[in-house]
Amino acid sequence: MIWNRKHLLDIESLSAEEIGLVLDTARAFKAVGERAIKKVPALRGKTVVNLFVEPSTRTRISFELAEQRLSADIINFTAEASSLKKGETLKDTARNLEALNADFIVIRHSASGAPHFLARFLSSSVINAGDGAHEHPTQALLDTFTIREHKGKIAGLNVTILGDILYSRVARSDIWALTKLGAKVTLCGPSTLVPRVFEQMGCRVSHNVDEAIREADIINLLRIQHERQRQTMFPSLGEYSSLFGLSKARLAQTKPDVLIMHPGPINRGVEIDSEVADCGRSVILQQVTNGLAVRMAVLFLVNGGKGPQELAGGPVIVSTVPA
Ligand code: CP
Repeated sequence: MIWNRKHLLDIESLSAEEIGLVLDTARAFKAVGERAIKKVPALRGKTVVNLFVEPSTRTRISFELAEQRLSADIINFTAEASSLKKGETLKDTARNLEALNADFIVIRHSASGAPHFLARFLSSSVINAGDGAHEHPTQALLDTFTIREHKGKIAGLNVTILGDILYSRVARSDIWALTKLGAKVTLCGPSTLVPRVFEQMGCRVSHNVDEAIREADIINLLRIQHERQRQTMFPSLGEYSSLFGLSKARLAQTKPDVLIMHPGPINRGVEIDSEVADCGRSVILQQVTNGLAVRMAVLFLVNGGKGPQELAGGPVIVSTVPA
């Protein structure tokens, strides 16, 4: 399997083999991260712009660390301090970044399709770091990486995604990745946030949380995305929490080896009890750790890296693409 994509825009257009190649490459990069010298020259001489036009903690910081570990030159674009505030368009902003020889643009934007739009006219590689309610491909890659690391496989697992599915880009990317890799995906939450139309993506839809989590191997929780909701989708946070929150009592009814996942940021006491978030079955912080290796793998592959075979056995990675 050879990676031959210039951009990473979504999971929907990837094959199961391409997803597997990213996960295998990420596993090799995780091993690199355990060496005394964690930095490699794969992106030496390349410039990466982190164009975050929407807030982020985990994705922005792990992309930046991944770029540092790959020896890239890095520009962090801050929307609040930019000429976007003076009315410059996203297209003009991106073309100016390209005029400064940006090789890669990592973009987070509140508008669904913003990365695809840039990829239409830029010669730089574009990596989607989350676009509106559309997709968050590197989150799905780190989620599947974390599941595979713990369970040894994805195919055949019961994965329940619980919460605000309708407004979640993580849910869409996870659904694409998990179903392509053969998992059985159940979506659960209030009917206003989990409409039956999602069955068309190959998922089961349930509005009964106790039933949806009983046989789950993985419970992936999502917060309520108030920033994208245009109307009230349920009566109150307290009611949401009692009907759909993952409490200690609910966790006691699940499989003993169930994994608790959450992309963050978590809202303690709403979709997840604080004790559950911090319990031994929670891999929430391991997801963050794995995000670094996954983002290194993505940058490496879109730069022309061939795969994990290039990383085996040595401290130095040299991409086949000249710097
Ligand atoms: N999971 C995630 O995208 O978190 P951030 O918004 O903090 O990047």
